[in-house]
Amino acid sequence: MTTLDRSRLETFLRLEEQKFHADHPKSYELFKRARQSMQGGVPMLWMIRWAGTFPVFVKEAKGAHFSDVDGRSYVDFCLGDSGAMTGHSPDATLAAIHAQAEKGITLMLPTEDAVWVGEELQRRFGLKYWQFTLTATDANRFAIRMARHITGRTKILVFNYCYHGSVDETFIALDEEGTPGSRPGNLGPPVNPTETTKVIEFNDVAALDTALSARDVAVVLAEPVMTNIGIIHPDPGYHEALREITHHTGTLLIIDETHTLCTGPGGYTGKYGIKPDFLTCGKPLAGGIPAGVYGFTQEVADAFWAKLDLDQSDVGGIGGTLAGNALSISAMRATLENVLTPAMYERCEKLADRYETGVLDVIKEFDLPWIVKRLGFRVEYWFRQSPPRNGGEANVAVDSELDRAMHLWTLNRGILMTPFHNMALIAADTTEADVDYHTKVFREAVQALFG
Ligand SMILES: Cc1ncc(COP(=O)(O)O)c(C=O)c1O
Repeated sequence: MTTLDRSRLETFLRLEEQKFHADHPKSYELFKRARQSMQGGVPMLWMIRWAGTFPVFVKEAKGAHFSDVDGRSYVDFCLGDSGAMTGHSPDATLAAIHAQAEKGITLMLPTEDAVWVGEELQRRFGLKYWQFTLTATDANRFAIRMARHITGRTKILVFNYCYHGSVDETFIALDEEGTPGSRPGNLGPPVNPTETTKVIEFNDVAALDTALSARDVAVVLAEPVMTNIGIIHPDPGYHEALREITHHTGTLLIIDETHTLCTGPGGYTGKYGIKPDFLTCGKPLAGGIPAGVYGFTQEVADAFWAKLDLDQSDVGGIGGTLAGNALSISAMRATLENVLTPAMYERCEKLADRYETGVLDVIKEFDLPWIVKRLGFRVEYWFRQSPPRNGGEANVAVDSELDRAMHLWTLNRGILMTPFHNMALIAADTTEADVDYHTKVFREAVQALFG
C-alpha cells in the first residue's frame, strides 16, 4: 500500500503556500488592515485556522459558489460548515427576508410565522413543543438547563471528541489512559469540566451503563452520528441501547441534529425513528440567517411547567432578547417550506454518490490507505484504513499537515472544503460539473503527493 513521504509533503505545502500568497494579493492587503482592528485579523478566532496563510476575503456568494476580492471563483463544499447547506442566499429565503425586513425585524412578540414553524418542526421531528434561539449552541445550553431543572441532577454526559457549540460543559475529553479532563484548548473553563460532565466513548454500551447507573446524570447530549471528529456511525443497536439505558436510569436524552440534518428533512431522528426527549438544531434552518431551535416532548413540557416560576422566567438562564425575532422566523419558514424539501435531499444525495465514487476511484487507483465516510449528502475522506468506532480512535487518525495540504491544494484551484477535516457538503445548486472538477483536482493532489 502507498505510503506518504513527509519531506515531499513539506515541499508540497511550501509551494502551495507560495502560490496562495501570490494569487491573493487583495485578500492579503485586507488581512493586514484587519489585523489593526481585529485580533488575529479575523472576525472570529477560529477563522485563523483556514489552510491559507491568511483568510480569503469574500466578495459575493450565491448557491454553491462564491468569489473573492481578487476576482477568483470557487466551488463551495464548505457551505459555512452547514450554515449555508441550503446554498448561499436561496431565492425563497431572500424574498421572505426582504418582505419581513420592511415590516419589522425584532419585536419581542410572536408573529404568525412562528406558529407555522412550530407546527412544521413538530411534523418533521415528532416532538411536541418548540422554542427558538439564535444559535444551535444556545439551543443545547437551554435544553441542558431544562433537563437539570426537571431532574434535579447536576451532571450531563457527552461522547469523547464531540462538539455541540461553545457549551461550557462539553469541553471535556479522555486522555490516552482514558482519564477525563479539560479538552486540550479549553479556554477559561468556569470549573473543571469533570465537575459538570461525564465523558465516555461513543458506541461503548458498557461504559454508558456504568456512567448512568449512579443516576446523577440529568441528560445525555449526543449527535445521532458523530460528525465533528469526522463521521462516526453508531453500531447497529447502539441507539436502542442508548434509549433503553437512559430510560431505566431516569436520564433524559438530547439529540443534536445541527449537522445530521443532512440525513433527511426530519434529520437522522426522522429517518431512523429515534425518540429523544429533546432535539436541537440550528445552522441552515433559516438559510444562513441566525436561528436555532429546541424541541421537547409532552412529558418534558409537563415536568418543566410544573417546576416553573413564570414571574422569574426572564431571568432563569434561558433567554435571548433577539431569539425568535420576526426576521429569523420568516427566513426559517421560507427555508423549511421551499428549500430544505424532500426534492432537495434527493438531488443532493445523488450528487454525493457521484462525489463519493470519484474520490473512491482515486483512492483505489493510487492504492491509498484512505477511506470515505458518508452521511446523507455529507462526504469525507480519512487518512486511515478502517472506520473509527469512537472519537478517541478518530482523533489519533488526524494528520493536520496532510489535512492542510489537501485543503490548500484544492483552495488554490478554486475549491473550498470544510475546515478541520476533509469534508464536502453538497448544496442544491451544486452541479455534476462541480463534483467532477473536485474529483479531477483531488486526483492531481494525490498524483503530486504519491505519484
Ligand atoms: C453538532 C453541533 N451542534 C451545535 C453546534 C453549534 O452551532 P453554532 O456554532 O451555530 O451555535 C455545532 C457547530 O459546529 C455542531 O456541530
